[in-house]
Amino acid sequence: MGSWEIFQKNWLWFEDLGFGLDFSKIANSNELSEKTIRSALDAMGALERGAIANGTEGRRVGHYWLRAPELAPEEDIRQEIVGTRERIKSFAAAVRSGAIAAPDGPFTELLCIGIGGSALGSQLLHGALPPDRLRLHFLDNTDPDGFMRVFQKIGKKLSRTMLVVTSKSGSTPEPRNGLAAFEELLRSVGLSLAGRAVAVTCVNSPLERRAKEESWLARFPMWDWIGGRTSVCSAVGLLPAALCGTDIDAFLAGAAAMDRRTRIRENNPALMLATAWYGATCGHGRSDMVVLPYCDALRGLSPYLQQLVMESIGKRCNREGEVVHQGLTVYGNRGSTDQHSYVQQLRDGLENFFVTFVEVLRRQEQSDTPARRIAGEYLEGFFLGTREALAAEGRPSVTVTLRQVDAYSIGLLVALFERAVGFYGEFVDVNAYDQPGVEAGKRAADRSLELLEAIKKLLGEEGKKPNGKDAEMVAAALDRKNETEMTFKWLEFLRAQARG
Ligand code: PA5
Repeated sequence: MGSWEIFQKNWLWFEDLGFGLDFSKIANSNELSEKTIRSALDAMGALERGAIANGTEGRRVGHYWLRAPELAPEEDIRQEIVGTRERIKSFAAAVRSGAIAAPDGPFTELLCIGIGGSALGSQLLHGALPPDRLRLHFLDNTDPDGFMRVFQKIGKKLSRTMLVVTSKSGSTPEPRNGLAAFEELLRSVGLSLAGRAVAVTCVNSPLERRAKEESWLARFPMWDWIGGRTSVCSAVGLLPAALCGTDIDAFLAGAAAMDRRTRIRENNPALMLATAWYGATCGHGRSDMVVLPYCDALRGLSPYLQQLVMESIGKRCNREGEVVHQGLTVYGNRGSTDQHSYVQQLRDGLENFFVTFVEVLRRQEQSDTPARRIAGEYLEGFFLGTREALAAEGRPSVTVTLRQVDAYSIGLLVALFERAVGFYGEFVDVNAYDQPGVEAGKRAADRSLELLEAIKKLLGEEGKKPNGKDAEMVAAALDRKNETEMTFKWLEFLRAQARG
């Protein structure tokens, strides 16, 4: 078969969605049986009807209900979803109109504090759809230098800054530290959180309790049936989006439209994508997925997908408890920028990947000057050329085509990849909805910080200056000889802190 025939057989275009997929440049190896495919579809159907799909945590998985509340298994869940969405809209409208404002005028800045699933969805949305009025800032780490950079950008607008703290658990240290640093900054100029802070968190979490006690401006719920990495259609993503002027109804409509397209057996884009992943990775992560959107507005897509796919699929055990060490590595940035860096290796080096190109047919701004029109033609030319060059070397790729980047098409993308991950999790038999590794990391950090506290107490009592050379002595004095290396690292850290 010639390449034109192969393309025609493997290209899908959904005119109603303004969305297409091209599988002509990826071989259909490691085919899955019809029984496996049917059983994955059945499992996703059961999940949407409210089955306990997250077995290890004994939880339902309800992110699909967020854009189709009528599918939620119980009336109170339906009402919570619809009621929260309405509250988000009226709160955002009041902030945007100035009805809810800072004491000295309308809010001009929005500071979002959160990490992982409590940040990456919003970052994807706002990279794609820039805020119209508020200036948006994120604190998504616990680096004091990072805090300072953001605070400097806020600068004189501190009094006009609204704060949204997002944490499902309400106890994650990074957002807690970000909040403490922001509060410290406010206090230093005689301001406080009152009248400017909003919490997005689970009912009765430590964050919720604090927001209630201190009468924060508003509280919006997270639910235990939503995972952080699939929370962008909840208040986690919708609240900042609505505040920034994004059409959240269009975003949810895009996600719902993709959901409808991906529940069926025939021409199901998510099923086809997951099947292609399975073929490319031999169902065991043998190939990495390189994400290459040819579009600056989609620069948040690679980090977003990195979390969605790797936190969902990267698991030690399958659902029967057997050790399988599953995963699917995701990385990428954007074209054509990356053609000037690692695409060299993709074309000529290791054959351990497949590319997911994202092509955007129309730019957001009209390219109505000659130079801008030519720039757009070059971008498309680089995409087509790179894809061709990789194919000529037998390097596989899938292409996702969007008519344009807008709230609706970002909804399409989110739902496409969420369900592809769900199908792939079924194919490789892992619980795609828990994250024991993330939680183990949080516990390990707690242990090392607890050692720091013990070291500081000991040094304080003995009036000693920290010095890595004393690691053996300090670890022995603390009766923690098996942590001598970590003691050394903390002593060196403390010595560096004591500069000047
Ligand atoms: O997807 C996840 O579950 C994680 O990335 C969490 O979102 C992240 O750890 C932040 O947790 P929380 O929202 O509880 O602060």
